[in-house]
Amino acid sequence: MDKVLFVLENKEVLVGDVILEFSYLVAAILFVIGLKLMSHPESAKRGNFWAATGMGLAMITTLFLHRDGVTGANISLTNGIVIVAAIVFGGIIGTIIARRIKMTAMPQLVSFFNATGGAASALVALMEYSNPANESALVTLLGLVIGTIAFSGSMIAYGKLDGKVGDIFAKWTTYLNLFLLAVIVAIIVYMMAFDLDMAAKTNLSYVLLAVALIYGIMFVMPIGGADMPVVISLLNSLTGIAAAMAGFIYSNQAMILGGIFVGSAGAILTLLMCKAMNRSLINVIIGAFGGGGVGVDKDQGTVKEITLTDAAVLLAYSQKVAIVPGYGLAVAQAQFAANDLVQLLESKGVEVKFAIHPVAGRMPGHMNVLLAEADVPYTKLVEMDSINPDMPNIDVTIVIGANDVVNPAALDDPSSPIYGMPIILAHESKNIIVMKRGMGKGYAGIENFLFFNDKTRMLFGNAKDTLQKLVSEVKEL
Ligand code: TAP
Repeated sequence: MDKVLFVLENKEVLVGDVILEFSYLVAAILFVIGLKLMSHPESAKRGNFWAATGMGLAMITTLFLHRDGVTGANISLTNGIVIVAAIVFGGIIGTIIARRIKMTAMPQLVSFFNATGGAASALVALMEYSNPANESALVTLLGLVIGTIAFSGSMIAYGKLDGKVGDIFAKWTTYLNLFLLAVIVAIIVYMMAFDLDMAAKTNLSYVLLAVALIYGIMFVMPIGGADMPVVISLLNSLTGIAAAMAGFIYSNQAMILGGIFVGSAGAILTLLMCKAMNRSLINVIIGAFGGGGVGVDKDQGTVKEITLTDAAVLLAYSQKVAIVPGYGLAVAQAQFAANDLVQLLESKGVEVKFAIHPVAGRMPGHMNVLLAEADVPYTKLVEMDSINPDMPNIDVTIVIGANDVVNPAALDDPSSPIYGMPIILAHESKNIIVMKRGMGKGYAGIENFLFFNDKTRMLFGNAKDTLQKLVSEVKEL
């Protein structure tokens, strides 16, 4: 490992250096493969495995082959022991938490882990800012600010999702946040523009840390509960950027690449979710959604109900059935009963598919996770864009606890807050059965004219109870 391979710009390049750089390249390739596999539920587990393998490889080779940029020395035995102890300790805690966590508490877990990532990057920046060998002052300061915001913001997000922290929303929070951002920018400009002594630099970096900490808290505090998934993915992206900046400080390619992947994947997910909800990111951050009434006062018509027996007959004698799951299905934990109905209908020769809207429920991939829990095969889950063209051929669409994602106001009512949001075209199918408890509104807080459509029949009740009764009725046919 210590054999000199060649000399580059007056620096000796050892065999170990080449192996280290090569391992970073392999790690980067594994990250890309991992990300690609994570884009489909069926391969997501494998994706996680390969990305983790890449990270493990980068950690091991760094531990053994990394050399100090100035002295050229490897990591000392004492430091090595401390690093390994930290990895083992963190690994054990992480494994225990991940194994014990309930599926419903997953968003909290993601927030908490994200907070630790932000904190780690911020600490690296804080330590390295006063290191005379560090030549990237601006990147270090930005890493400190972004990592700290990601940390405090994610901790507040964790508290909110866990029901421990309430919302604070008042007009003044927007002004306070703008003021805090201006203070952060002013401190960074001051620190970069003047040649300060070390004591002043260190003191100011602590002030910056404190202001960024408060900004992170105040930035997440006013955001409404149901908008949290978008904010979590935004904070995730910030953690990635902070990690990439920490990578710059150490000139470590694996860290830079890993950070950029997390940062860009988080940013893309944030934008996709905003697009699927037809909301701008600014709108989410300012938190002005829902609660609005219907823009146009239409003649609603009347709602028609269907009996369980009639619903069972209609379904059993159909050829093609689509199920649109939504937030209510998750609340009722009706995924198992829904799968029972699917299997029963299929045994009677009916073709059944689930129509999945990207923001159905309250977190990214909510329906996929829920249905996977009930062992619904992935092949039965059809994404909105793929199933929509086929909707006119569907005999019966069963809407289970979904509302906004099938609301035609998104297509034809320009005054509606959801106007422009893509929906599942349930109203184009030949018959629609809607299962919900009553005439309650969805997340957007608006009326849904699908329920008043001539082709629609309502089947009121808790989704799980209704589905179980429906299964019994179909069995008796
Ligand atoms: P929603 O529009 O929220 O509608 C859910 C419906 O479920 C309600 O109208 C409710 O009506 C019914 N329901 C509640 N509990 C039920 C139960 N136990 N049994 C049967 N029905 C029940 O849901 P959706 O269509 O899935 O739309 C999701 C919404 O959340 C969209 O507006 C989306 O933009 C938003 N959102 C999504 C995300 C992500 S990432 N998925 C993030 C933030 C916001 P009743 O009260 O009458 O039963």
